[in-house]
Amino acid sequence: MDRRDFIKKTAMTVAGTAVTAPVMAMLTNNENMDLLEKETEKTALNSSDKKIKVLMINGSPRRDGNTYIALKEVESQLTKHGIETEILQIGNGAVNMCINCGNCRNTDDGCVFDEDICNTIATKMKTADAMIVGSPVYYGQPNGGILAVMQRLFYSSGQIVKDKPAAAIAICRRGGATAALQTLNMMFEMMNMPVVTSQYWNIAYGSSKGEVKLDTEGMQTMRTLGNNMAWLLEKIHAGGKDAPERERGVYMNFIR
Ligand SMILES: Cc1cc2nc3c(=O)[nH]c(=O)nc-3n(C[C@H](O)[C@H](O)[C@H](O)COP(=O)(O)O)c2cc1C
Repeated sequence: MDRRDFIKKTAMTVAGTAVTAPVMAMLTNNENMDLLEKETEKTALNSSDKKIKVLMINGSPRRDGNTYIALKEVESQLTKHGIETEILQIGNGAVNMCINCGNCRNTDDGCVFDEDICNTIATKMKTADAMIVGSPVYYGQPNGGILAVMQRLFYSSGQIVKDKPAAAIAICRRGGATAALQTLNMMFEMMNMPVVTSQYWNIAYGSSKGEVKLDTEGMQTMRTLGNNMAWLLEKIHAGGKDAPERERGVYMNFIR
């Protein structure tokens, strides 16, 4: 392929219409050919740069409630760093629990239940670089729905989430947030997901909708978490190995 064809083809297929017009105009001037070739290569490189993305899961059935507000506070810092985000909410429909049917192990279909957000999370995590899970505290634990979804997600999609940083946040009226946080973190900890922390445990207080905004320390904790997550992701994506070296897994039923 001669230089002109190369440039035309690259400009059209990689850079898209936004740069095609200036590129084509420059084509008329032979003196600019070298410069043009370099610029086109640069554009191709830039356009293949994938934006870092964090998938955020809101386990609360309450729309725009306190968990959502706290997640938005984390998101505000990720956005500042140019990181793409998406918040998925569990909603208030029925959520299935893991029935240990083995479908996810024996097929490529993911979890056998397709009605709630479990398989959607798995699909989105294929291209996302990190995960943040927010939960309201119910009886000192994450709410039942988010636990059921996360258990199914991790059982069916371990390979998708591994090596991707993760954080949990827990929102409560008065107590039980640290236990809830610990429960969520325990899942990340056995999925090879580096757990991201903040200046304090990732918790904030609020009862009625919007009240969590009054917890100024809690809100700051969320912003710090967002900054810490952005910092870690930027470091990871700056280069180096994709993942640490691992031994082949040993699986035992119990210690003997
Ligand atoms: C079923 C249920 C159980 C709850 N249990 C607790 C609890 O153990 N500790 C607590 O501090 N708050 C508890 N709460 C209050 C919620 O955690 C609190 O209102 C939270 O802000 C709700 O978040 P959301 O607006 O995102 O749904 C409970 C609420 C419900 C509905």
